[in-house]
Amino acid sequence: MTRRPQQPTTRRTTVLRREAVVAAVPVAVAALLVGAGPAAAGTVGSAGAGDPYFPLSGNGGYDVHHYGLAIGYDPQSRHLDGKAVITARATQRLTRFDLDLEGLKVTGITVDHAKASFRRDGQELVVTPRDALCKGQEFRVTVTYSGTPKPVTDPDGSLDGWIPTDDGAFVASEPQGAMTWFPANSHPTDKASYDFTLTVPKGRTAVANGVLLGQKTAHGRTTFRWRQSEPMAAYLATATVGKFDVEQYTTADGIKVYNAVDPREAAAAAPVLKKLPSVLAWESKIFGPYPFRAAGSIVDRAPQVGYALETQTRPVYDSAPDLSTLVHENAHQWFGDSVTLTRWKDIWLNEGFATYAEWLYAEQHGGKSAQKTFNSLYASPASSDLWAFPPGDPGSGAHIFDTPVYARGAMTLHKLRTAVGDRVFFHILRSWATHHRDGHGTTAQFIRFAEHASGKDLTTLFHTWLDTSGKPSAP
Ligand code: TRP
Ligand code: ZN
Repeated sequence: MTRRPQQPTTRRTTVLRREAVVAAVPVAVAALLVGAGPAAAGTVGSAGAGDPYFPLSGNGGYDVHHYGLAIGYDPQSRHLDGKAVITARATQRLTRFDLDLEGLKVTGITVDHAKASFRRDGQELVVTPRDALCKGQEFRVTVTYSGTPKPVTDPDGSLDGWIPTDDGAFVASEPQGAMTWFPANSHPTDKASYDFTLTVPKGRTAVANGVLLGQKTAHGRTTFRWRQSEPMAAYLATATVGKFDVEQYTTADGIKVYNAVDPREAAAAAPVLKKLPSVLAWESKIFGPYPFRAAGSIVDRAPQVGYALETQTRPVYDSAPDLSTLVHENAHQWFGDSVTLTRWKDIWLNEGFATYAEWLYAEQHGGKSAQKTFNSLYASPASSDLWAFPPGDPGSGAHIFDTPVYARGAMTLHKLRTAVGDRVFFHILRSWATHHRDGHGTTAQFIRFAEHASGKDLTTLFHTWLDTSGKPSAP
């Protein structure tokens, strides 16, 4: 409820846009039906992962293990050259499968070194390998592509994906922007490891996720090699490009930190970034060991974006963050990044938890208690945006970043805390993150987990706070 509530208002824009979204729905549903038709039951991978909020995100029939992305970008012409090498396993016999890719020109595809045929259909890149893939078969798809990447406009009006800036690009892909810059199975259910080879003009820096393996300058261009070895959802990948000051160090816990800061934001960012090691140490104490080997920050100047994103190992900020935002995005490393949702409807598992981390940080660092934060929110009148819908059911992709998801999501956790007591509550937070590390978690699993840990029936509490419309009556 700190900085985020002001954003949806600025981001949710015109009626025009809403019409466009409505018009797009039948197409998406039709595509899903085609994917689920008789042919699909046989050998055609479906066009979506089955998420009603983003029906065409992700694809059926295979599971990606690794993305090898080689990307060259020229900020001046805004031209991108890409080659994606995707290693996957077929989960069914496949005569055909889809990748998600929006815009850009595909110049060639091979599957296991044999030329494959393909066609484009909106965000679906439909691939027909020369030889059908057997169920269980490992295969490798190579896609070469190029063009001028354009961000997508989300149903809430915000930009998402490859967003050009005055000196490069701000790359933040939640929920569906990964397809604007690489072909992917772009749904959080399919996590994979990544290697990035990013080439930009000398003097620019290209920052991705994970550990920097090396950088080399030749013929006026610099190539940065990054490795994200822990599994990552496509929406958490970044390849942000700009003129950055770079700082690198290793924390006492052995985490490799890489901070890239737009010099115009450096003075404002410095006092906050200085706290990163202590924020990570504090979060590790509360949530359990930091889940990745790398950490850091990308502080860009991208005023057209209006939000920060918890890109894995290294959040991106559209301007110098305040401390609370730093705490929020890094809390997502546990909640969202390491433990990932399986459908966008469960977004409160990300935003409610990261927001509650802000409350806890304040409480334990001389600020307001979480109870006080809860109380002042609870005092909001029934007509307030806070009570517009229950956080367990945002209703559509247009509302996943609205106030109830963040604030009432955090209030739900506070209600859990007061019901089970601090000892059990902090045990739940920590063991949830540990149990589901590098994996997924659902709302139903979290409720069962909390009930099991506390020995209490929490059905009413969660039903009231997550699923019931309007302001809950007794706080
Ligand atoms: N998940 C981000 C955060 O709260 C916010 C975010 C990502 C967002 N993409 C967005 C908010 C699009 C609004 C619109 O840390
Ligand atoms: Zn968040």
